[in-house]
Amino acid sequence: MKRYGNITGWGKYVPSRVVTNADLEQTLDTNDEWIVTRTGIRERHIVEAGESTSQISIAAARDALDMAGVHPKDLDLIIVATSSPDYLTPPVSSQVQDGLGAKNVGAFTLVNGCTGFVYALATAQQFISSGACETILIVGAELTSRFVDWNDRETCVLFGDGAGAVVMQATDVPSGVLSFVLGSDGSGAEHLILPGGGAVHPPSHENLDAGLHSVRMNGREVFKFATRVLGKALRQALHQAGLEAEDIDLFIPHQANVRIIDRAARFANLPPEKVFVNIEKYGNTSAASIPIALCEAFEQGRAKIGDTLAFVAFGAGLTWASAVVKITENTQPVPKSWWQGLVSRWFSPNHLVSNSAPQKTPADHTPEAN
Ligand code: ACO
Repeated sequence: MKRYGNITGWGKYVPSRVVTNADLEQTLDTNDEWIVTRTGIRERHIVEAGESTSQISIAAARDALDMAGVHPKDLDLIIVATSSPDYLTPPVSSQVQDGLGAKNVGAFTLVNGCTGFVYALATAQQFISSGACETILIVGAELTSRFVDWNDRETCVLFGDGAGAVVMQATDVPSGVLSFVLGSDGSGAEHLILPGGGAVHPPSHENLDAGLHSVRMNGREVFKFATRVLGKALRQALHQAGLEAEDIDLFIPHQANVRIIDRAARFANLPPEKVFVNIEKYGNTSAASIPIALCEAFEQGRAKIGDTLAFVAFGAGLTWASAVVKITENTQPVPKSWWQGLVSRWFSPNHLVSNSAPQKTPADHTPEAN
């Protein structure tokens, strides 16, 4: 019998601190009108000093697990998609595993920029289809605010922090990832890159002075790339699933730029009422953007159980990914909450490196925090 991976729970966490375009006007040569018309972004959520990627991942994950009625110890695998982990090593997925109390559960981190969540979803589906796993937690989380130059108006206005998570469970009911497309073109790597901190430019005073520790982006090239691949990737995923645009109930794209989303939807013949957009509130939260949007789509009644959804993303690599996902009724029993006891421990700052000074968030330069 064919095995499917139904999505039975979802959750999100965004930091409470909101930085508006007007706030950014105080420190940057930018303005609300430019940001809104060019990107669709009005505000973004930015973490406070001391918050970490593992913490926000755990917060999103516990909601998703609660909704699915899955205790962390019953997970078979945890995949965390992020390009802004707590540390280069250990992998942040192990911090999430430990923080959830998912004792000895296998965990890995998938580093793929903004396409990370869709790559993780497609990967999880394979573990379930093969019979290797029954229940998988997938998290997309980013603290991009720690890796942008808050003096670079071409990048910093675009990004926000946040996390989203889903639980995927084996079932014989056709559901979950019905089709997916994964693509990569490394020849465009330099258009979206964080050059420092890896093996090529390891941390050094010279590399810090040269500003290699911040994201650099050639916005125009990324824009051209995105408009070239998104609509096509979406159409390919529909074709592979044997579906037409009219069979899709809601299109949930990566939230990077509303103009890119509009073009992709037009290319795939999806009308605006079938397109979910929340970029105005969060900016680009990279690997977290699709799971956060998924949660909001359900909260707002735009998505419902039984729907067929289409996800599409693009990002660093350069990479792209799309998936057609059907969400059906959860047939598993849902017991009550398990996580309260763990929260206090994991929400104490710097729990792992107890003697380190709290990090100064780049966004602390914004007027709100001054
Ligand atoms: N405020 C005011 N002016 C600005 C700003 C700003 N924040 N940023 C750039 N400008 C200026 C530029 O300097 C330029 O001025 P000039 O004409 O005097 O040289 C002018 O605005 C136009 O710049 P463009 O780059 O041509 O503007 P464009 O319409 O292309 O929009 C943008 C720029 C929003 C970055 C767009 O190219 C884009 O969205 N690209 C894709 C970016 C993206 O999605 N990145 C993330 C993808 S991967 C991931 O999600 C992690």
